[in-house]
Amino acid sequence: MPLRYLTAGESHGPALTAILEGLPAGMPLDEAKIAADLARRQAGAGSGDRMAIEKDRALILSGVMEGVTTGAPVALQIVNADHANWKGRAVPAYTTPRPGHADLASAVKYGYDDVRPSLERASARETAARVAVGAVCRTYLETFGISVAGYVTVLGETEARLDGLPLAERVARARRSEVQCPDPDAAAQMARAIEAAKSAGETLGGVLEIVATGVPAGLGSHVNWDRRLDARLAHAVLSMNAIKGVEIGDAFANARRTGTRAHDAILPGADGLTRRTNACGGVEGGISNGQPVWLRAAMKPIPTTRKGQDTVDLATGEPALTYYERSDVCPVPRAVVVLESVVAFTLADALLEKLGGDSIREMRARFDTLRRATLEDVRMSGKPHVFWP
Ligand SMILES: Cc1cc2nc3c(=O)[nH]c(=O)nc-3n(C[C@H](O)[C@H](O)[C@H](O)COP(=O)(O)O)c2cc1C
Repeated sequence: MPLRYLTAGESHGPALTAILEGLPAGMPLDEAKIAADLARRQAGAGSGDRMAIEKDRALILSGVMEGVTTGAPVALQIVNADHANWKGRAVPAYTTPRPGHADLASAVKYGYDDVRPSLERASARETAARVAVGAVCRTYLETFGISVAGYVTVLGETEARLDGLPLAERVARARRSEVQCPDPDAAAQMARAIEAAKSAGETLGGVLEIVATGVPAGLGSHVNWDRRLDARLAHAVLSMNAIKGVEIGDAFANARRTGTRAHDAILPGADGLTRRTNACGGVEGGISNGQPVWLRAAMKPIPTTRKGQDTVDLATGEPALTYYERSDVCPVPRAVVVLESVVAFTLADALLEKLGGDSIREMRARFDTLRRATLEDVRMSGKPHVFWP
């Protein structure tokens, strides 16, 4: 794995930190670009009050000199403004684990005396650090004309109608929508559903779609399980809080189709081989095929609900209702940029692996030799194959 990152930090601790290692030298990087993605993570319908407290900015602490990467690890820090409100405060013990959160499982695993150490780290506040990392990875991808964008297709029981709507229009409309949904009718219904859930003390989940364009053929590999691009994307997507399902391309619809209707026919095109469809989501045999890489992710309704849920008070052993502390109602719209970020990391990692080299200059020369396979690139001799003679 040429590119790697770690994050550290608690939800109400002093700061979140991320270290990203493996970026090439010579890539211009500025904090404003990271700030723009962080702002997207803070906006949208269904957000809790915490987002009004934070004004996320990532400080670049290392790996960048005079605005350009040096090849050294990039350390990023996001200060938690809310820390000042919690520092030194005595808070009641939190002993009523929320179903669906890490509370009970982590208390059993780590032997916590209350669930606060768990919720401080399991909190999706950590995803701010991932968005900062993702923004850096996007900068790298954009150097080579690759972009990653997403939108909401389902929220609660409302599904967007997107048939025939080109990707650029989907993304442009989603950015104008407070629920990140390109279908205005569905978006209005989604916004109403969030308000209704809020009044009822409930939360809502949804489905998000992410599309990466400009991805060259040849990222990932079929030769071993951990090199398959689809598996790496699924790992990244499922590593995100509250994401419980992932679908590469038309995976679930394909499961109901016959073989001849499920696959993307290979056709001779004017300037090379071409496809009419992209049901495989741009990945075949664990390798990108030059088509847009696209996937869907299912996000569950988040576990903190104002309406109490059945649990057991671990201090008394008695049945109890969950305790409510400030929370989102539906972070599905805010999750779009987080999901884009983890996908951007995975693609940046796979591209770095493909290109090799230590500087953007070296990589650019290599990248220019990559393109969608033309017939000439893959022309075969037609000679019979002799197996292990
Ligand atoms: C952007 C974002 C915001 C979230 N906000 C909350 C929240 O306010 N309250 C909550 O209970 N869960 C929230 N979650 C989900 C929890 O972090 C998650 O459900 C929890 O850590 C348990 O992990 P799991 O659902 O992946 O099993 C959020 C998730 C994301 C992606």
